[in-house]
Amino acid sequence: MKGIVRLFILVPLIIWSCQPKSQPAVTLDSPSKKVNVTFGLTPSGQPYYTSSFEGSSVVDTSYLGFELDDEVSLKSGFSLESSSQTSFNETWEQPWGEQRLIRNNYNELTLNLKTTEGYLLNVVFRAFDDGVGFRYEFPEQEKLDEFQVLDEVTEFNLSNDQSAWWIPAYEGNRYEYEFTKSKVSDLNLVHTPLTLEGETFVAIHEAALYDYPSMVLKGTGSSKLVCDLVPYSTTDPVKAYVQTPFATPWRTIQLGKQAGDLITNYMILNLNEPNKLGDVSWVQPGKYIGVWWEMFINLGTWHQGPKHAANTKNVKKYIDFAAENGFKGVLVEGWNEGWDGPWMNGGTKFDFTKPYPDYDVEELSKYAADKGVYIIGHHETGADIENYDSQLDSAYKFLSDHGMKTVKTGYVENGDTLPNGLYHHGQAFVEHFQRVIEAGAKYKTMIVAHEPIHDTGKRRTYPNMVSREGAKGQEYNAMGGTALNHVTVLPFTRGLAGPFDYTPGVFGVKVKSTGYTVPTTIARELALYLAIYAPMQMANDLPENYEGHPMLQFIRNVATDWETTRVLSGEIGKHIAVARQARGTENWFVGAITNEDSRTTTINFDFLPEGATYQATIYRNADDASYPANPEAFAIDQQEITSETVIDFDLIGAGGVAISLMKK
Ligand code: NOJ
Ligand code: CA
Repeated sequence: MKGIVRLFILVPLIIWSCQPKSQPAVTLDSPSKKVNVTFGLTPSGQPYYTSSFEGSSVVDTSYLGFELDDEVSLKSGFSLESSSQTSFNETWEQPWGEQRLIRNNYNELTLNLKTTEGYLLNVVFRAFDDGVGFRYEFPEQEKLDEFQVLDEVTEFNLSNDQSAWWIPAYEGNRYEYEFTKSKVSDLNLVHTPLTLEGETFVAIHEAALYDYPSMVLKGTGSSKLVCDLVPYSTTDPVKAYVQTPFATPWRTIQLGKQAGDLITNYMILNLNEPNKLGDVSWVQPGKYIGVWWEMFINLGTWHQGPKHAANTKNVKKYIDFAAENGFKGVLVEGWNEGWDGPWMNGGTKFDFTKPYPDYDVEELSKYAADKGVYIIGHHETGADIENYDSQLDSAYKFLSDHGMKTVKTGYVENGDTLPNGLYHHGQAFVEHFQRVIEAGAKYKTMIVAHEPIHDTGKRRTYPNMVSREGAKGQEYNAMGGTALNHVTVLPFTRGLAGPFDYTPGVFGVKVKSTGYTVPTTIARELALYLAIYAPMQMANDLPENYEGHPMLQFIRNVATDWETTRVLSGEIGKHIAVARQARGTENWFVGAITNEDSRTTTINFDFLPEGATYQATIYRNADDASYPANPEAFAIDQQEITSETVIDFDLIGAGGVAISLMKK
């Protein structure tokens, strides 16, 4: 009897001592206090955060945590052991980019948490004046060494049910979809960056993705979105295999008053580590053409046969054209063994050191070098990362031995899973992708990746990771086309992640070989060189469509490396106007595009330095141009422009205007 009484007294005591101590919330302000983050623990020790921007709540109570293997739940039972705050303020220089100097100014809050069972987890917040980044750290600890993440339960409980521009996740064409606009409460599984419209513009994404799966967002039928990590494979539901000490990618919430503010928001780059490659003077932005569009419009083939496009004679024609017009590179696809079989069904046999017999790589490399041009290698992997991994070193040595300073990679597969059931965006692919970046760095090769892992700003750390596709690009305009508003959505959505190899430049809008009209106009194609940022910028069309064309002058002149970027105006899915100053010069370039609607775009040239005069060449749709009837009609005007000049441009539907501004 006595024993039983004791037990009754003891049990409540034990429960009480297991309860985390109730602790006040901790607040972090950004340097100018525009952005605030609050971190707290509920009475049951569940971690949460909230965030506000310019006095308005953006994120309401959103819980944080994990489910690990061995039934370890890191969702509650936490207490705050200690916390610390630091500040950081520096301006750093990008070796190449859309903005040379970038300010990295934030306040940081680290919260050291411990569960009642003794597990340690840190949450680190950085509050910038234009957004919030946070990540989890698993410190080295006795109870966690190698472990599995079964779920990351990070929430983004938005204060308003804003409209979101989204593409679906886990679908067969990866990121290659057009964007739909719906309320957050209507979302299911969507990719990031996810851009939200409203009084505050918000973009949710991630930064510095290493050794971990990509983040997808899952809707809940309310304005709350939750993190959905891509599983390891179709047969392995584990999300991540991790070893302590480990830090997750940053979860990012970028904030702005205008849609265009998100485009010049460099928080994701700032959340990545500085350049680890040292001297990267070998990473040189530029323009390229390629043995590419001709395959898409049925004039050539990747595989061997009478129409095999990657043959020595044809490639020489491209090299000659590149040399005459100042292009740095000539992309050659279909040059290597492996294209003759059913590669899209997982049976890839691509060999990255064996050219087809009609492609004389030695002769062509020399021919190109003599003309100051280089060949851009192509590694289509068919998503067989095992095959590619096994050849990585020899493949990149081969590129380097032949002066190929850039490679375009590709990961087209049938469906959203790779061979072996691996997910395109899962941890295995993320790790493979990093090995590719490092192989490229070893052999001083720039990488332009198609069907990639989404960009999380790694180019800061690995500046040879220059550009990616990872969205529905020009290739679809040879295969059924895209909605006319697509390119007016891309800069505000996919573009927020980083450079995008859209491959603009169609001049033969009415494609003779297919009878198809590309949904664009020549003037809008030129403006895309400004609206969509890429350091390696392609001119996608055939040399014969460019040869002698007056509008080619704009592509010849336009820069691909910038001192600064200004978004002059823009509304997602409607229009955008961007001005950029060419790095190392005082020249500027401007591009404005519209969706299917005609509209007047007013360009105020007040971004130019006061007192200077510029010779402007204005490349526009001709007065009688129209889409789809007369999309190739163009006009070129000359005008002197100063910082006082304001011009109203009447754009036709699918139209645009591109302007070069050379300082006099
Ligand atoms: C898809 C890429 O996006 C495209 O650019 C390339 O030509 C094909 N794969 C073939 O590799
Ligand atoms: Ca693609």
